[in-house]
Amino acid sequence: MTLELRELDESVALVTGGGQGLGFAFVEVLVKNGAYVSLLDINEDNGNKAISRLKTKFETSDKVLFIKCDVTNENEFEDAFKNTIKKFGKINIVINNAGIMTKYITSWEQAIDINFKAVVRGTILGLKYIENKVDNMSAVINIGSITGLSSSILPIYQSTKRAVVEFTKSIGCVYNARENGNHIRIMCICPGPTFDGLDIEGKKKLEHKMKVFITSGEENPDEKRKILVQSSEYIQASFLYVMKNGKTGEVWISENEESPRLSKLNNFY
Ligand SMILES: NC(=O)c1ccc[n+]([C@@H]2O[C@H](COP(=O)([O-])OP(=O)(O)OC[C@H]3O[C@@H](n4cnc5c(N)ncnc54)[C@H](O)[C@@H]3O)[C@@H](O)[C@H]2O)c1
Repeated sequence: MTLELRELDESVALVTGGGQGLGFAFVEVLVKNGAYVSLLDINEDNGNKAISRLKTKFETSDKVLFIKCDVTNENEFEDAFKNTIKKFGKINIVINNAGIMTKYITSWEQAIDINFKAVVRGTILGLKYIENKVDNMSAVINIGSITGLSSSILPIYQSTKRAVVEFTKSIGCVYNARENGNHIRIMCICPGPTFDGLDIEGKKKLEHKMKVFITSGEENPDEKRKILVQSSEYIQASFLYVMKNGKTGEVWISENEESPRLSKLNNFY
């Protein structure tokens, strides 16, 4: 897989939870490929640090914008779309990435608000603000998780991620894409565990822990299954692969550093 996608040049993306982790990885690969990016995060410190890193790495100060935004706040979220358009002239890519993993039933309402309600809101805002003159790259990407397609011991996280999968399949199905009138692709990416900066021992420990918590994508309870902790560089390549090859309504599984594969779940319409 490659980290290059020339078609992204001059795209304008809005990424939620872009201050660290997967969100930052999406922002980074977008900027690397010539896109303008609005990075939304509730954590101002994360956001400012992310912007400094991007400015140093890509020697550009006019291609990235940090907007402090809590995606559970309706007005703040919509203002972020308006301010992005004010700064960069348009939006054609939205990545609904912000999410929290909760163990058992801690912070369950907050987790539903961030992991599901804000993804629905971000998709609806995407349909409202993505310019109608759609290019090949126009898309809303919702970040699920293999947990939403597996068995796990995480009731709130698993169910919110499954909700993201089902919402994306249906809102993005061909029938609805036609109804929406502008054919914006709406797709879901379900990553496996993804963490950078671990040594070999740390990676093994985390893989062991993950195997206790979750099965791999598509409800495969096989005892011999593997769950590898993958790098964010791999997720960046997977994201570009889906941007290039994905069709609306599709759910892509991106785990074990394998090439992304389509989920077996499909929407009939
Ligand atoms: N890292 C993984 O292993 C993994 C695997 C599968 C799916 N995911 C999904 O990927 C997404 C990112 O995960 P991550 O591991 O990078 O998380 P992370 O905790 O490292 O980063 C999440 C970012 O979102 C921000 N955020 C949290 N609440 C917010 C809110 N209300 N409004 C705006 N920003 C907010 C945080 O400040 C943080 O910068 C999540 O949806 C997660 O469920 C992660």
